[in-house]
Amino acid sequence: MTRMIKIFDTTLRDGEQCPGASMNTDEKLAIATQLARLGVDVIEAGFAYSSPGDFEAIKRIANEVQGPTICSLARAKPEDVDRAWEALRGGANVRIHTFLSTSDIHLKHQFRMTRAEALARAVEMVQRAKGYLNDVEFSPMDATRSEASYLYEVLEAVIAAGATTVNIPDTVGYTTPQEFGVLIEGIRRHVPNIDRAVISVHCHNDLGLAVANSLSAVLAGAGQVECTINGIGERAGNASLEEIVMGLRTRRDYYRADTKIVTEEIARASRLVSAITGIVVQPNKAIVGDNAFAHESGIHQDGLLKDKTTYEIMRPESVGIVKSKLVLGKHSGRHAFRTQLESMGYKLSDDEMNKAFERFKHLADQKKELFEEDLDAIVAEEIFRIPERYKLVAMQVASGTGERPTATVELEIDGQRSRQTGHGDGPVDAAYRTIAAMIATKSRLHAYIVKAITGGTDAQGEVTVRVEEDGRTAIGQGADTDIIIASAKAYLNALNKLAYWQQRGRIGVLPSGDKSHP
Ligand code: KIV
Ligand code: ZN
Repeated sequence: MTRMIKIFDTTLRDGEQCPGASMNTDEKLAIATQLARLGVDVIEAGFAYSSPGDFEAIKRIANEVQGPTICSLARAKPEDVDRAWEALRGGANVRIHTFLSTSDIHLKHQFRMTRAEALARAVEMVQRAKGYLNDVEFSPMDATRSEASYLYEVLEAVIAAGATTVNIPDTVGYTTPQEFGVLIEGIRRHVPNIDRAVISVHCHNDLGLAVANSLSAVLAGAGQVECTINGIGERAGNASLEEIVMGLRTRRDYYRADTKIVTEEIARASRLVSAITGIVVQPNKAIVGDNAFAHESGIHQDGLLKDKTTYEIMRPESVGIVKSKLVLGKHSGRHAFRTQLESMGYKLSDDEMNKAFERFKHLADQKKELFEEDLDAIVAEEIFRIPERYKLVAMQVASGTGERPTATVELEIDGQRSRQTGHGDGPVDAAYRTIAAMIATKSRLHAYIVKAITGGTDAQGEVTVRVEEDGRTAIGQGADTDIIIASAKAYLNALNKLAYWQQRGRIGVLPSGDKSHP
């Protein structure tokens, strides 16, 4: 019999703890919407107590995203549990996930609690959460470095207090597949009331074993796996959702387990998370890397031409990697545009739709044929729009052999036009130096990444930059058929975010180094 394993996605919580991966509320909502299309069972939308931005994002996701259970993390503290409930209370299916360490290392050095005090606190907080809702998850943090007999005792007590899921975290990525399997079997054998709760696992990737450990736990009887899109997360990241899901689907014969994930939505989810966080997926990454289905060797290509099964254990289409599909052209009208976006799952307001259509018309003039990926880029620019303090009005760049690269940039800054010419080591450098001088920014550029959205020399280039100022990191994105213009747009997008956060106080993210994140 095939067991159905629940997929608990924590991209918006543990994934956001990945350096530089901070997201604002609209971005989180866009990812949550895609996670719902993907069919995840639970979305951990954030950590309500940690910031007003996280609180707001959880609240909106709980109210607006249909399908999955929406969850908030809460330390084992009354104020955290209460705040999690406040954020979740409007949602149809909601869960509070509370946690406290069980390892002596953590209890002694971090929490300064005895084992008895920690057990009592864990029970009390599960009961408190239970007073608000039925669906309560408890995690004994650093479980894999905890003494097994104490871990069993805590699990029995929190289940008796009402926990419906007990999650076993390998917080520091320390365990091995065999050892972790034995731990899960031990929990099944030694916790007398374990049949009243789902056993979940949450593995970090410090030794590159997060997926292997999670799959070993499934073999040993775990019923829920916690993971993130592209495996992003604290330090070396979390177990990657796409690898877990495709591992189970491809080897269902071996694991006798599967998930209800709509695997065809995986590539889209991966692209979206990468675009929003600015964290690029390595080309050789399993399932979603650019080379994951690219066969280079002549022998392999020969085999594939004769029969796909010779070298392909999964079809690219099964994870949503399809040949770019031509969807619209220069003469497509507003109705065709709206219908196409709706078929791709986008729900835009009339105002957003009008603005996106204007962008589409402009792009169709330059490019003639538009693919799904082009429309993804247009919508991304529209949805993740923030107030533009700095707007690009015009730009000319000259460069060539023996010529000093020169950029003349015209910007609108707080509604005032200004124009300046500057130089640099290359055309992008000239544009960036000129923009930086005009805005008088103190920020530093940490990353600059260019990607072609579709094939061909008329493809749109998509530029992602990471810019930092006073410990705050902003990801900027820009797309255009002219790569230098795309670069300028991406840089201005990041600078606009920094300016916006400075003006409002940042939404949705804790300053890096904040100790209230687990
Ligand atoms: O890694 C960890 O232990 C966590 C817990 C909060 C589940 O993220
Ligand atoms: Zn974690």
